[in-house]
Amino acid sequence: MSKLILGIETSCDETAAAVIEAAGDGRLILRSSVVASQIELHRRFGGVVPEIASRAHTEAIVRITTEALGRAGTSVDGLSGIGVTYTPGLIGALLVGVNFAKALAYSNGVPLVGVNHIKAHAAATFIAADATKGAVQELGAAPLPTEESPALALIASGGHTSILLLRSPTDYRTLGRTRDDAMGEAFDKIGRVLGLPYPGGAALDRLAAEFLESGRTPSFTLPPVAIAGDTLDFSFSGLKTCVLDMINHQRMKGEEPDPAELAAALTITITSSVTRRLEEALELTGARTLFAAGGATANSHLRRALAELAARRGVRLYLPPLSLCGDNGAMVAAQAYFELLEGNVAPPSLNGLATGESEL
Ligand code: KG4
Ligand code: ZN
Repeated sequence: MSKLILGIETSCDETAAAVIEAAGDGRLILRSSVVASQIELHRRFGGVVPEIASRAHTEAIVRITTEALGRAGTSVDGLSGIGVTYTPGLIGALLVGVNFAKALAYSNGVPLVGVNHIKAHAAATFIAADATKGAVQELGAAPLPTEESPALALIASGGHTSILLLRSPTDYRTLGRTRDDAMGEAFDKIGRVLGLPYPGGAALDRLAAEFLESGRTPSFTLPPVAIAGDTLDFSFSGLKTCVLDMINHQRMKGEEPDPAELAAALTITITSSVTRRLEEALELTGARTLFAAGGATANSHLRRALAELAARRGVRLYLPPLSLCGDNGAMVAAQAYFELLEGNVAPPSLNGLATGESEL
């Protein structure tokens, strides 16, 4: 029998809800996905303002959830579970989703599942088909990882950069993580100094493409983001400081940096450090499957480098469609389904856990 799961996401600056159908054969089919982005609200501040984010979630959540249920042709009564992101994220933003999902679940007798946002990003890779536009579109989902056939996942977004080992859709081990800024955060902060609109990640991606496709190579290199030594961790703050110093020095001389050249140098150093780190992790774990998910994995240069890495190592690469790379409710619903299979129903005391307090 098929099951419908609602996923609710409010950890940062997107209010999102989606309905996933888990078909009788276990295939996950996306029935609806609604995302209200707050980017315009935060743009004039050059970054996410937590209090504004919480208020905007409060205003949007009923409408977004009602729309997701309506588009999926169901009501709360038809649900087998309600998943909600409870960690990591901005605490006020998380609490809006958690409290709303709790009320919806308990007042309707539907099991509630607390979902880890980082796990949810990876779970987007397991969604088999998209039926939100009528015709069912196959998404080329990754096979579920097992003890014998684990998968390596790179999760890179505005808030997170981690390399994980998955032995099942719920069994995760963090092999490496950023010790300071996240990949998307580094792109956004540098984009801001260059005067690009927030968030700068996508604009820097395009600028780098423009520069590299014209056959040019940057006249300088930037420091790697892979921490040296016996670790799979990253650090983006040194790179960020180096770029900001470079820009300031040029400006003090009355010159302006070429944003396209800088974007290219930045992209090259991030992409090569991340692929090198993933290659080390593949070597270490023997994983034959690689996933990449999260907003910053929309980066076209990174996607190409990952495809080259996978071909060179003979591993299978799975990337969710771009619509499921950024924050969305579908990934939360997918992870909630796997948690439910394990009996991981949240108690009424489920609370939000801010960034840094998360178990992953
Ligand atoms: O997953 P997401 O929507 O939210 C978080 O969980 O943080 O990721 C947003 C991040 C932003 O930092 C944004 O600049 C980055 O993803 N991003 C990109 C690209 N598109 C979005 N970074 C690099 N290249 C892109 N094409
Ligand atoms: Zn995210």
